[in-house]
Amino acid sequence: MDELIIRKKEITDIIPWNLLLLADPSRENVQKYIDHGEIFLAYKDTVLVGEYVLTKEANDTVELKNLAVDEQYQNKGIGKKLVEDVIERLKKQNAKRVEVGTGNSSLSQLSLYQKCGFRIIGIDKDFFVKNYKEKIMENGIECRDMIRLAINFD
Ligand SMILES: CC(C)(COP(=O)(O)OP(=O)(O)OC[C@H]1O[C@@H](n2cnc3c(N)ncnc32)[C@H](O)[C@@H]1OP(=O)(O)O)[C@@H](O)C(=O)NCCC(=O)NCCS
Repeated sequence: MDELIIRKKEITDIIPWNLLLLADPSRENVQKYIDHGEIFLAYKDTVLVGEYVLTKEANDTVELKNLAVDEQYQNKGIGKKLVEDVIERLKKQNAKRVEVGTGNSSLSQLSLYQKCGFRIIGIDKDFFVKNYKEKIMENGIECRDMIRLAINFD
């Protein structure tokens, strides 16, 4: 595969709504966290193939809020490269911890995060039922609970 270039979104770059909404169907929720977070864009040649969003939380913790790879480019290792990029970036910034939340039904995401070193730290029960208007179904499972995962860098 050609090299993947990952860089911070500049003010002049268009917000990649198609990708952001792939990872999180609530435009309202996405808008809230991109307002105080940073979007990183992944390009293969000149094609935008993925993105992730980081937000600063309390106690030197950063949260990976949104991660998506364009459907045409999925299952080629790009998602894993993006998660590895998050980890390397945060280590360089001396962050203490990175957290991520994903759905109980998001089986490939749970696999990906654990393969990259995240450990499950808790469950936010009924998070998706309380915060999303539409019922979310994935892999034949209703997405109700948020599984919280983290990596401690120290
Ligand atoms: C989740 C997502 C970012 C993964 O990106 P991707 O480029 O397809 O992922 P990769 O090709 O890098 O695969 C990552 C790992 O997950 C594993 N994986 C993927 N689907 C899997 C499944 N159903 N079961 C087990 N493992 C799975 C792969 O085997 C791979 O591990 P490996 O390299 O050791 O084989 C992508 O599917 C996506 O954008 N989904 C929609 C948005 C989304 O749900 N975002 C996450 C919100 S929490």
